[in-house]
Amino acid sequence: MDLNTNDIEAIVKQVISNMKSAPSTASAAQTSPGEIPKTARVAMLTKLEHFDVKEFPVPPLGDDDVLVKVEGCGVCGTDAHEFKRDPFGLIPVALGHEGTGEIVWKGKNVEKDSAGKPLNVGDKVVTCMIFKDNPDITMFDLNKQNVGGADVYGLLPDDDSNHLQGWFSDYLVVKGGSTIFNVSDLDLDSRILIEPCAVLIHAVERAKTTGILRFNSRVVVQGCGPIGLICIAVLRTMGIENIVALDGNEKRLEFSRKMGATNTVNFKDHKGIDELAGAVKDAFGGYLADFAFQCTGSPVAHANIYKFIRNGGGLCELGFFINGGDATINPHFDICSKEITTVGSWVYTLRDYATTFDFLKRAKGIGLPMSELITHKFPLDKINEALETNLRQDGLKIAIVNQ
Ligand SMILES: NC(=O)c1ccc[n+]([C@@H]2O[C@H](COP(=O)([O-])OP(=O)(O)OC[C@H]3O[C@@H](n4cnc5c(N)ncnc54)[C@H](O)[C@@H]3O)[C@@H](O)[C@H]2O)c1
Ligand SMILES: [Zn+2]
Repeated sequence: MDLNTNDIEAIVKQVISNMKSAPSTASAAQTSPGEIPKTARVAMLTKLEHFDVKEFPVPPLGDDDVLVKVEGCGVCGTDAHEFKRDPFGLIPVALGHEGTGEIVWKGKNVEKDSAGKPLNVGDKVVTCMIFKDNPDITMFDLNKQNVGGADVYGLLPDDDSNHLQGWFSDYLVVKGGSTIFNVSDLDLDSRILIEPCAVLIHAVERAKTTGILRFNSRVVVQGCGPIGLICIAVLRTMGIENIVALDGNEKRLEFSRKMGATNTVNFKDHKGIDELAGAVKDAFGGYLADFAFQCTGSPVAHANIYKFIRNGGGLCELGFFINGGDATINPHFDICSKEITTVGSWVYTLRDYATTFDFLKRAKGIGLPMSELITHKFPLDKINEALETNLRQDGLKIAIVNQ
């Protein structure tokens, strides 16, 4: 599938039309204990590069709804994209989809989360952009499609009857039928990292389908932004020990070693692809990689990566969430004669999302510095600063954390 900004736009449009056609469950009856505030603050993107933190009344809640007090929300590349250019034409919009918080009220029909776990006031929850009621997007069959219908809180245009639709806020209304998970057994930082981590759980599941990724595999991870660093963490929790990380940024390479890379290569220290491939081989003690994960959005990096892989090895390309342009490879030398098995990976399934909760517990259990991926935390009223920090690429993960 050729995935680009148009595809994302189509998904967002589908989401919006799904939400518009959904039957209203609003009712004034409040049938369950828990405190409902009268108003809530919402960071509303009102024009390009500008959020206004506005106060809105909490709308009437229905028997299928859940009111969540927001604790925090990660800033995603998509938020930065909206902030800078509004490519989906959503302004005014309450952004923030990598959020988490505590249930303060639930309607009388709400009993279980999307995985069947009980939901109660006081539980910590996340939402997920994968739509649980689409039978093709399933927790039980990894081979089915990974994105189809979606209910993406934080990417819906402002609605006059309920402004509490994004996680960059004090409170969020999770409407009946939405995907919601009880993740009370995870700490706040882990819960903020669920969404990006699910991308790597999916990528590693895709990689496993090649049959090439094994305990003793030599694995190259190219790119040490949040995506590459989390890739290393997932590999470490699987017991893969022999990982070489590649980047041009020494600080990121240093972090990759803390995350579990056994060796690093700074591509800026090497002239030309042959010398770079030689450096990767040296980093593995004289061998090329059995498997490679491509975690940059650079077409040149895609072209390079084949040179780091042994004959009969495998590649997972996951670096292009949006169209980053064409890459030039030599099909004979790079794929055919080397018999490279390649898989692509994009977003995740609902099942990967649930697997991510366990991954985060294991990562913490084996002492991986996951929390350090969140390099900046801003309060809600500093949201413009948070987005500017994200655009300057000063840190790794930027998050809004409420008091
Ligand atoms: N598959 C998916 O569903 C999915 C989901 C989220 C993000 N992504 C994509 O993953 C990519 C990485 O995301 P991120 O947040 O870590 O981005 P990032 O920009 O923070 O990190 C990319 C890293 O790659 C490094 N890099 C650039 N060119 C390189 C080269 N030639 N060799 C080695 N390293 C190089 C950069 O120095 C940087 O540290 C993005 O392009 C994003 O679109 C994909
Ligand atoms: Zn996101």
